[in-house]
Parts: sequence; C-alpha cells; structure tokens
Amino acid sequence: MKLIDGKKIADEIKTEMAIEVRKMIDAGQRVPHLAAVLVGEDPASQTYVAHKEKACKEVGFTSSLYRYPESMSEKDLLEAVEFLNRDDEVDGFIVQLPLPKHISPEKIIKAINPKKDVDGFHPMNIGNMVLNLPAYISATPYGILQLMKHSGIETEGKNCVVAGRSNIVGTPLSILLSRNNKDANCTVTLCHSKTKNLKEVCAGADILIVAMGQLEFIKADMVKEGAVVIDVGMHRVPSTETKSGFRLKGDVAFDEVSKKCSMITPVPGGVGLMTVVALLMNTMKAAKNEIYG
Ligand code: GUN
Repeated sequence: MKLIDGKKIADEIKTEMAIEVRKMIDAGQRVPHLAAVLVGEDPASQTYVAHKEKACKEVGFTSSLYRYPESMSEKDLLEAVEFLNRDDEVDGFIVQLPLPKHISPEKIIKAINPKKDVDGFHPMNIGNMVLNLPAYISATPYGILQLMKHSGIETEGKNCVVAGRSNIVGTPLSILLSRNNKDANCTVTLCHSKTKNLKEVCAGADILIVAMGQLEFIKADMVKEGAVVIDVGMHRVPSTETKSGFRLKGDVAFDEVSKKCSMITPVPGGVGLMTVVALLMNTMKAAKNEIYG
C-alpha cells in the first residue's frame, strides 16, 4: 500500500507558485490577491479561513479577511459582495459557507462576479464546467484531480465510484472524472445514501472516492483488493493523544481499508491540503485573467 502524500504534493505546487509570484514581482506586476468573507463564528469555518490565509502567505499572495457578525443581514452581505466585485485590487474572493440561516447561500453565490468566483460555485462556472468550457472548478474536486495526476493514478478505462452527491464535491467530480482526457477518463458511478447494494457497488471500484460526510463509513469489505481510495471526509473526534483534545478522521476506516488497497489518502494529510492549494491555483488564474480573458 502506498500513501498518497497530500502534503508533499501540495508543497511542490506551492513552491512552483511561489516562484511564479516572485517572477510577477520582478516584472513589476501586482501579486495575486485572495479575499475571504466570514460571517459568524463557526469554528470549522474559522479554521478553514485561517488555513487559506496561511497558504496565501506561503506563496506570496495578498490575502484579506472580511469578518462580520452572525447577525449581519442578507442585504448587507450582498453589499459586501458587491464591494469586492468592484475592488480592482481583489482578483478573487470566497464567501465561506455555511452562512447563518437567515441568509440564502444561493442568492449570495449568484451575486459574486463569476470572474472572481475562485470557489467555482457560481451557476455560470458550474455550467461552463459541465460543458467543458473554461471555468473555475471548485477547490475540492480540482484538488483531487491534481492529487490523482501527481500520484500517477491511471484513469483510462477504470471504474470509478464516487460516494456522495453534494454540489461542491460528488456531483462535479463525477462529471470531471468521466472526461475524455488523460487524467480523468473513467467510467463513473455516482452513488449515495439511497443506492441499493452500496457495499457491492463500492467493492467494484478501481478508484473509490468517498465524500459521504459520515465518519469511517467505508469498511474493508466495501473495497476491492488493490483499489485506489480517496477520502474527502473530515471529522473532529475527541482524542487524549493530542494537545488540542481532538484529532481528524475521514469517511474511510483507514486502518482496515489501507491494508487492502494499492493507494490511499490519509486524513489529515490528504485531500484537505490540496483543497487549499486548488483555491490558490484558481486565484492565480484569476490574477492572470486565464479563464475569462
Ligand atoms: N465551506 C466548506 N468548504 C468550503 C469551500 O470550499 N468554500 C467555501 N466558500 N465554503 C466552504
């Protein structure tokens, strides 16, 4: 079994990006600028945003964080989005989800200028992605594609099972992995909580990607001998062995599944780190006007 080292791949991509930023500075250009909007105090969201800011610093991007209270109105958030849409110094921005219940995430996402939507959540980016036109691809699917490419995972003719059908991960991944190109040329099955014989479907996968949001849902008997397993899950579980009092675990029962597969992503140290890198890659594309010219 080979561990897919998300940290190593993420570090390699960040090193390349830092070199590119250095070249931009030497050429007298402005460095890429990623802004994040955080509403409320959700602890997981605060951690994600902190990771994004840290990664920006590492590669030399400018980052800015706009924090607002939980009580912020939808109208005020729409105005904040409009402000960032108009700010020529900001190349791309994200509105961290989830939002408080009184704010419609769909309304907010639709208000983001698609050219600055480095999360790839705007309907225009999703539509372009489905049509295989230039688009920002959401960070988690984009990060997983990078992880697979850099790990040399063969896709042509392989059966890929994606477990989980969210708008952000499972659904876009199922489309992206069935493309007729070198890095993602699979036969894809998208399965979910209502799939009959889920165990058998997963056990037929050459490549199994799990984004169910359920702690250690995938056990060894759901995995084919020699399969590649990619775990998108992230769960905080109490632990007496760490200073913080918790540790991260995934949607895959790592200890038993890792014995059976040819390659597997750990949690932490797998997909999560690549998600942040993919967001940086999208921000670089925004700074260079690569998607929309
Ligand atoms: N919440 C969890 N993941 C994400 C993400 O990728 N982008 C945003 N904006 N919010 C999230």
